[in-house]
Amino acid sequence: MAADRLAQSGRGLRVALLGKGGVGKSVVAGTMARLLARRGRRVLALDSDTMPGLAFSLGAEEPAEPTLGAAVEKDERGRWRLRKGIGPVRAVRRYATPAADGVRLLQCGKLGGSEAPAMMGAANGFYRVVERLPEASALAGWDLVGDLPAGPRQAAFGWARYADTFVVLVEPTWQSALTARRSAGIVRAGGATVAMVANKVAGDDGRARIEQILGESVIDCIPRDPCVAAAERLGVPLLDHAPAARTVGVVDELVERLLSTLRPPDGDGTLQPMAEKVSPR
Ligand SMILES: Nc1ncnc2c1ncn2[C@@H]1O[C@H](COP(=O)(O)OP(=O)(O)O)[C@@H](O)[C@H]1O
Ligand SMILES: [Mg+2]
Repeated sequence: MAADRLAQSGRGLRVALLGKGGVGKSVVAGTMARLLARRGRRVLALDSDTMPGLAFSLGAEEPAEPTLGAAVEKDERGRWRLRKGIGPVRAVRRYATPAADGVRLLQCGKLGGSEAPAMMGAANGFYRVVERLPEASALAGWDLVGDLPAGPRQAAFGWARYADTFVVLVEPTWQSALTARRSAGIVRAGGATVAMVANKVAGDDGRARIEQILGESVIDCIPRDPCVAAAERLGVPLLDHAPAARTVGVVDELVERLLSTLRPPDGDGTLQPMAEKVSPR
């Protein structure tokens, strides 16, 4: 199987989405995960946001109970731990749920979706699994795509130790740009790569305005896209409602760009704007 060969040929992407609430992380993460899967790759989507979002853009059923609740128990001192015999690989096999295009989805659990104690157990289980993902050699070839809770802080590391690349989304507002700037600073200080991407950009000077308040350039620019709003209104994932939408096109380019960093010798491990890649000067 192509996916098997891929899984054996090297390490997969380790990407997480960062940015202010409402900036488009879940839409982009879900679309990105599915576009990777459509390339024959094995994809694990990691939803560490306690607000709903990723399951929707992935075209996945939201489980009634957070599945990882069954993976944990309390030790003698009342602290959550993974049950004996459950490591990251087994947890993914057992507790990840199917999503469109063959993506697997592992969720932290949704606030209000279940009783508080069940949610606490599941969230702890999720954290214990996610922190051990980097050591799981059976998952080495998988692409990991994480949708992080809003904001710059814990988002960056505690919940995404697996990530070496952060796609930081920014929309044309000051608050969003400040969050993006802070998030990028934190993950860069930890040695990770940042792909700064503008979303909901309107008008000719939209990108320039974002770059001005951000203080750096973005590598991709997603327009304010009526297809995204329409898909949401209809309750259908963007990729199913409007596969030819501009947003899908830009996310697809971003996916290509991220994949190119995995492919030496033509990929040198750095993220470059598409135009420069296509026509090197
Ligand atoms: N490019 C876009 N054009 C128009 N609306 C968008 C775009 N990207 C996201 N949205 C809308 O913005 C809102 C927040 O998106 P979401 O992915 O849930 O953000 P986050 O996960 O960062 O909180 C949703 O209503 C979504 O439909
Ligand atoms: Mg979200």
